[in-house]
Amino acid sequence: MTTPPDSTDVLIVGGGAAGLSLALRLADSTRVTVLAKGPLHEGSTYYAQGGVSAVLDAGDSIESHVQDTLIAGAGLCHTDAVRFTVEHGRAVIEWLSAQGVPFTRESNTSGADYHLHREGGHSHRRIVHAADATGRAIQTTLEERAREHSNITLLDHYIAVDLITRRKLGLDGNRCLGAYVLDRHSGRIKALPARFVALATGGASRVYLYSSNPDGSTGDGIAMAWRAGCRVANMEFMQFHPTCLYHPQAKNFLISEAVRGEGGYLLLPDGSRFMRNFDVRMELAPRDIVARAIDHEMKRLGAECVYLDISYKPADFIREHFPNIYAKCMEYGFDMTRQPIPVVPAAHYTCGGVMTDLRARTDVESLYAVGEVAFTGLHGANRMASNSLLECLVFAAAAAKDIRRQLDHAPEPPDLPEWDESRVTDSDEEVVVSHNWAELRQFMWDYVGIVRTDKRLQRAQHRVELLLREIGEYYGNFRISGNLIELRNLTQVAALIIGCALARRESRGLHYTLDYPKANDSTPVRDTVLVPTHFAGRDSPPYWAS
Ligand code: FAD
Ligand code: SIN
Repeated sequence: MTTPPDSTDVLIVGGGAAGLSLALRLADSTRVTVLAKGPLHEGSTYYAQGGVSAVLDAGDSIESHVQDTLIAGAGLCHTDAVRFTVEHGRAVIEWLSAQGVPFTRESNTSGADYHLHREGGHSHRRIVHAADATGRAIQTTLEERAREHSNITLLDHYIAVDLITRRKLGLDGNRCLGAYVLDRHSGRIKALPARFVALATGGASRVYLYSSNPDGSTGDGIAMAWRAGCRVANMEFMQFHPTCLYHPQAKNFLISEAVRGEGGYLLLPDGSRFMRNFDVRMELAPRDIVARAIDHEMKRLGAECVYLDISYKPADFIREHFPNIYAKCMEYGFDMTRQPIPVVPAAHYTCGGVMTDLRARTDVESLYAVGEVAFTGLHGANRMASNSLLECLVFAAAAAKDIRRQLDHAPEPPDLPEWDESRVTDSDEEVVVSHNWAELRQFMWDYVGIVRTDKRLQRAQHRVELLLREIGEYYGNFRISGNLIELRNLTQVAALIIGCALARRESRGLHYTLDYPKANDSTPVRDTVLVPTHFAGRDSPPYWAS
């Protein structure tokens, strides 16, 4: 078992695509420690199916990828972030290939022989993939490279509890000095000093009852950054993926958008296609539109699910392109080469997050945020398919460059006060945590889901404030556990989602409210920016939108 160092140059919280690529890009110049709160691979990256978008085909162009991203983002993307990301697409794919990621190849006009898929919102084939398990290929390859590097310490089953900043210690300025970290093997909390800290903790989709994400997507990085004094933006734009397998045992298995990209149709229970009633792009409309259409039809008909059908394609084609999806569906008794697959929408991606600039810097000095935890301005009101892994990789490279530039003059990691457990006792009421967890995810699904109203949001706000108070009390009195840390963070993030949703008085992209069903284009379109008005210790609002 690896033990944590006494201090490190760069502490990276998160071992997915963002965290590992940042670590690998830094490790030749400096000592890096990477934390993962469970097994290293257990983040969204491992489960990504479709792939990474990049302009590689001779008939495609940067301009076209930029335009598609802007259209999907419904007027809220930051053009500089979009252009920056898209322009670095080819370079990060080449970097991944050089690390050994086994992308699917074929002879084509890309010049690099990548086989390219198509997905919703993209007007060209531009999704580089490793069959239908791209995330697994990226995660395992980057993990192998990181394990080989002598400057990288990988600590799995270590959960960051909170960031340590100068302000929290009552000192001038607000530089990040490290983090308190819970060793899940021993239950002990240790202060881990660092010259730089990067949050690469992924998203918060587990705030909803049904989600495509692994259990750890609990918004820890967003909540920690918020408590440390960072602004958080656009949290109302939680993305629901239209097609998760509907089966009581399947839990959160995704059916990739690439299935629709290769010609899959969406069908009602009576076998009729319905997407033509919602958008001319039909099944390849952006996700917000497809997920809302499915939600609408399910509610209208009282149906438990809709169906995705690609069975009219040759069976060999399906098995070759979607080997993992095919195998998983067979496990649950669905042969996708012969029959439609039952599907439902589920929470999938957090478009908002910790505000960063194009170097991945946050509002707190020496604190970076990279990957799904961050709000870079790329996704606007709706992320386009396969732009997320791209963002992880591009911004990890940008953060690494910025950190390397400062290595010679950044202060040494300071001595930090140890975690104070003198006033807490062991909890005998774990049921409180599990009850609150279930309640939170249920009311977020019911009141802050695909279709919202002010009344539902206000109900949710009232409940989340009660939960925040209860959890705050519990947190102050009892020895903390991984479950409690995640619940505290998730509840904080729920409050931020609701706060943002209430502040946006229009429907745009992923935020759809019956009270304001149209986009408000009469005033300039603005991000919803929440500014923390509290530091150190207090979880509850106040916050305000600007
Ligand atoms: P993750 O890969 O989620 O990693 C988060 C890491 O942070 C984990 O190691 C976790 O243990 C660690 N962590 C979290 N909190 C703490 C803490 N408190 N202390 C210590 N460690 C912590 N995007 C695409 O672009 N293309 C796709 O094809 C695609 N398919 C997807 C399919 C599925 C099923 C899912 C769920 C997502 C998909 N996405 C896809 C989205 C994409 O996979 C994610 O946005 C991306 O992988 C996020 O990477 P990340 O490195 O930011 O976070
Ligand atoms: C998918 O394969 O449908 C997921 C793609 C994504 O989330 O970008």
